[in-house]
Amino acid sequence: MDYTAKLDQAIDRLHQEGRYRTFIDIERRNGNFPHAIWRKPDGVEQPITVWCGNDYLGMGQHPAVLAAMHEALDATGAGSGGTRNISGTTVYHKRLEAELADLHGKESALLFTSAYIANDATLSTLPKLFPGLIIYSDALNHASMIEGVRRNGGAKRIFRHNDVEHLRELLAADDPTAPKLIAFESVYSMDGDFGPIEAICDLADEFGALTYIDEVHAVGMYGARGAGISERDRLMHRLDIINGTLAKAYGVMGGYIATSAKMCDAVRSYAPGFIFSTSLAPALAAGATASVALLKTSEGQKLRVQHQTQATILKTRLKGMGLPMIDHGSHIVPVIVGDPVHTKKLSDMLLEGYGIYVQPINFPTVPRGTERLRFTPSPVHGPKEMDALVRAMDELWSHCALNRAELAG
Ligand SMILES: Cc1ncc(COP(=O)(O)O)c(C=O)c1O
Repeated sequence: MDYTAKLDQAIDRLHQEGRYRTFIDIERRNGNFPHAIWRKPDGVEQPITVWCGNDYLGMGQHPAVLAAMHEALDATGAGSGGTRNISGTTVYHKRLEAELADLHGKESALLFTSAYIANDATLSTLPKLFPGLIIYSDALNHASMIEGVRRNGGAKRIFRHNDVEHLRELLAADDPTAPKLIAFESVYSMDGDFGPIEAICDLADEFGALTYIDEVHAVGMYGARGAGISERDRLMHRLDIINGTLAKAYGVMGGYIATSAKMCDAVRSYAPGFIFSTSLAPALAAGATASVALLKTSEGQKLRVQHQTQATILKTRLKGMGLPMIDHGSHIVPVIVGDPVHTKKLSDMLLEGYGIYVQPINFPTVPRGTERLRFTPSPVHGPKEMDALVRAMDELWSHCALNRAELAG
């Protein structure tokens, strides 16, 4: 086997389909978000504004978060030095888990090194705990849930995105005595639409199923204390397992599930992705704890209001120019280009010509034909940044002769 030729073929396929991924080398500067420096391949540095980050509230540069991280780093050193079971459980991990359990009104929370791992490890472990488990998974669930469900060896049913009637049909067709779990998201990150939480909980009650929700794109940003859409809609108590990240609105790193003490105990004891991996660095846990605690307060509420205001302003302005947008009322602002090559070109032109960084989003992250630029406005994007973005989009849309009215439906 010519391994190198095989690798070349695989990479060439991506080039041909216009979905070869280029990582932009950026340096974020503390205190200066969303401004950053782009280090070009030739070594030249260009100032840019980041419009596609998931540090949705700018917490990655919040002084309280940084102070907590510095303090923990000085107190305890760099890494945790072990898995949770073998010397890697510290006071910082315990504090963060308590903070998260309180956030979601659950008995316990369990930390993982990312929400990806939390989803994958938990969903792939549940059939060991509930033999014969059938998982009903929304068709647009994140890759981490898909992987967890796929690897677990149990039965799975995929329901059409947000289609509760289809979910009902699938539930009704299965053995009423079989253990069941419905896995879905509260905010789908590419379109910014919401999962029908209440209707899914109703079905779960009717069919005796557990519910598993990914609130990764909602925690910190929705609800009176930042616990997500299920808090906003007063549905937290109806969800059995809530998954969240500490890497997006909380601005640090790590993921978790919040659930009953028994469920945490069982997952903790059976999930290889939890057991056999070094725990989060204490400084990360300390920073995340400060961030979660802060976003529970009135300061957090203020940031949440500013965040939504910025998203509304950007959507209104882009829509006003007739750009083809998806608007489901969340903080995510996707502008559909509909072609991978055009999307990449627009992204390149924004970066090189205007110092505006928005990564092209292509298949398989989104379906083919819906390639897009996905903007994530935040409280740290001011009027100056917004004006520059709107002007650039207007010019480029005309320059590239992209359709406005027709695509805008
Ligand atoms: C819906 C969803 N779930 C989980 C994750 C994984 O989160 P993390 O970055 O903490 O691994 C992501 C990341 O983008 C996501 O979009």
